[in-house]
Amino acid sequence: MSSSPFAGARVVLTGASTGIGRAMALELAGAGARLVLAARGRDALEAVAARCRELGTAAEAVPTDVGDEAAARRLIERAVELHGGIDMLVNNAGRTLWSRFDELETLEPFRELMRVNYFGSVYCTYHALPHLKASRGRLVAVSSLTGKTGVPTRSGYAATKHAMAGFFDSLRIELAGSGVSVTVAYPDFVASETRKNAFGPDGRPLGESPVAEGKVMTAERCARLILRAAAARRREVIPSFRGRFGQWLKLLSPALVDRIARRAIARGR
Ligand SMILES: NC(=O)c1ccc[n+]([C@@H]2O[C@H](COP(=O)([O-])OP(=O)(O)OC[C@H]3O[C@@H](n4cnc5c(N)ncnc54)[C@H](OP(=O)(O)O)[C@@H]3O)[C@@H](O)[C@H]2O)c1
Repeated sequence: MSSSPFAGARVVLTGASTGIGRAMALELAGAGARLVLAARGRDALEAVAARCRELGTAAEAVPTDVGDEAAARRLIERAVELHGGIDMLVNNAGRTLWSRFDELETLEPFRELMRVNYFGSVYCTYHALPHLKASRGRLVAVSSLTGKTGVPTRSGYAATKHAMAGFFDSLRIELAGSGVSVTVAYPDFVASETRKNAFGPDGRPLGESPVAEGKVMTAERCARLILRAAAARRREVIPSFRGRFGQWLKLLSPALVDRIARRAIARGR
């Protein structure tokens, strides 16, 4: 894949140990990107880095809590120390919620989701931006369809994904002419660990997924679609047909889109 824009590219990827992030790491490794991978859990992250190296590329695991600004800065500094710069930052790390707002026993998940999903993206982006400007690189953010429309049981999560969309859409305008592209992804349900780790009403991880994980988009397909959009420097990508169709439908009948969202949560797909 030597014609890939990612051949030799210096990439920082957060949330790389499982799900969509792991799939993006392997896809980028196959294309010859040089990877600096972040997540909190060291063992799973090291395993992904080792698999990337088996595919023939440089990959270093840097255990990081992206919601800690000092740690996010160290992640970026380590990438620059290793490779002399950064060509792409993928803000993918994130957690979710699965609870009606009026059933929550604590608001702690709201604070934690904003800390990780929103501020984690802001911190990594802030510290990487001078390097991305120097390389005329690519900035990628993984939002969610809940960043486009409200979804029941997701209030605190949807807020963080709307915040990400507002932040990256604004930054894209500021960066016009700088050579840095900003691509925001809005995935629908994708098979991953996210629901198992989702905050439930008591503020603890659910432990098992309420979604039919075998019937939704695979992490590999989602990863390929996000990276294809990033390669083409597209402003956004909505991987599912339901998501793309929903954007048009919402203009005509937002209440119908609300009903589709309610049904998707009830069916778990
Ligand atoms: N799966 C879906 O249906 C779906 C749909 C739309 C959008 N998304 C978004 O896609 C992204 C990837 O999620 P996924 O579905 O692949 O879920 P996942 O399998 O749970 O992966 C989440 C990744 O983020 C890492 N992470 C969590 N908290 C972190 C923190 N504080 N600092 C650094 N890394 C952290 C996790 O590793 P550690 O726990 O070890 O840190 C893991 O590597 C998320 O932003 C999610 O919101 C997912």
